[in-house]
Amino acid sequence: MITARQALYVGGALAVLAIGVGLYAGGGFDDFGRQVDSEPKMAAPKLAPPDAAASTPRAPNDLAGDPPRAELTAPAGKAGASAAFWPPPETEMPAGEFGDVIRRGREIFIDTPRAASAYVGNSLRCVSCHLDAGRLADSSPMWAAFVSYPAYRSKTKSVTTFQQRLQGCFEYSMNGRAPPPGAPELVALESYAYWLASGAPLDPKIAGRGYPALTPPAQTADFARGEKVYARNCALCHGPDGAGQRTPSGYAVFPALWGSDSFNWGAGMGRISNAAAFVKANMPLGLPGTLTEQQAWDVALYMNSHERPQDPRYTGNVQGTRNDFHATEDSMYGREVAGKVLGASGAPKPFKPWKQSRP
Ligand code: HEC
Ligand code: HEC
Repeated sequence: MITARQALYVGGALAVLAIGVGLYAGGGFDDFGRQVDSEPKMAAPKLAPPDAAASTPRAPNDLAGDPPRAELTAPAGKAGASAAFWPPPETEMPAGEFGDVIRRGREIFIDTPRAASAYVGNSLRCVSCHLDAGRLADSSPMWAAFVSYPAYRSKTKSVTTFQQRLQGCFEYSMNGRAPPPGAPELVALESYAYWLASGAPLDPKIAGRGYPALTPPAQTADFARGEKVYARNCALCHGPDGAGQRTPSGYAVFPALWGSDSFNWGAGMGRISNAAAFVKANMPLGLPGTLTEQQAWDVALYMNSHERPQDPRYTGNVQGTRNDFHATEDSMYGREVAGKVLGASGAPKPFKPWKQSRP
């Protein structure tokens, strides 16, 4: 149940977020947060320095639904500093039939279980992880993704298209199933992302893509420390058991971080480095950047040391699946925590579309 205090908290947090985004969008601050003379709203996109990506560390493995870190470009340790491109304001969405499909894509993005119910197996929404309707730099924004595909991916050893990338999100992050190629849902999401990218350079190294990479933790990430960070900074919204909080009709006001209603083991957020970078740049909601990098690493490890739905690529046993898809320090899948092997829940459950009326 959501208490009045929590409603206030998140209301305030969203207001802070909205004001912050508004200020940035209006060009009120330069790259270092100092106030500068306001620029015209639709200024030509500024490009990242060419060497911005040079120091981005390569992740040891490339989990499903996720580009290798080296494909992402945000300069390390400069959260918010990479916000160079701004998508057009919503008021500029075109009218007519194309506009209708773009609006449909936005609706799917922010209300996924309802608007694309046939393909979604949890109560998360695309916007749960791609904040501000996929507009926010350093929160893996859709305009940056759009200009980055097709791309060769080391994991699949093939070239992935933007639609295939969207399919992966349904399968792993939404614990659902991929809409078939050309499905209206994919066309609408792709149209929305295309429109957000209006005026952006076609450049996979565009600043603001993905999350700003963190430096490796000074101290090895630690479960007990992460538990404390979680209790102090996250449990109020996401619940002491990580299950999030839903309205009686099943609408997730605060999304689940682990458990049966969260993303599955194949999702990009299941990688500790991704989760730490996302959390550092975006959480606690409304207070982004307030955790230290060490706290972000610790809480990411804690979050990903809990059970969640099976990896859809499950090979029949946990160790085989770990060897094939999780053979990296960056994944807790197949490792033992508190006497239990993570991922040992057996074969993936048959797909069931999420019903708003579920708990
Ligand atoms: C549980 C969190 C989560 C949810 C929910 C989620 N995603 Fe993602 N998504 C990620 C992560 C993590 C990545 C990889 C992030 C990164 O490093 O750019 C990603 C990457 C992407 C990318 C590629 C980004 C790039 O720059 O290459 C696209 C496109 C995308 N997601 C679309 C979607 C759509 C559409 C939905 C809803 C159907 C969705 N995502 C739901 C976490 C999520
Ligand atoms: C003020 C309430 C609040 C607090 C505190 C908070 N979050 Fe969140 N969190 C949210 C909301 C709301 C979303 C979804 C964003 C949206 O829909 O716009 C979210 C999304 C997420 C997601 C991606 C979605 C998912 O289910 O995986 C992760 C991961 C996450 N939060 C982790 C954390 C961690 C770790 C902390 C503590 C450091 C934290 N959050 C603190 C409200 C909060």
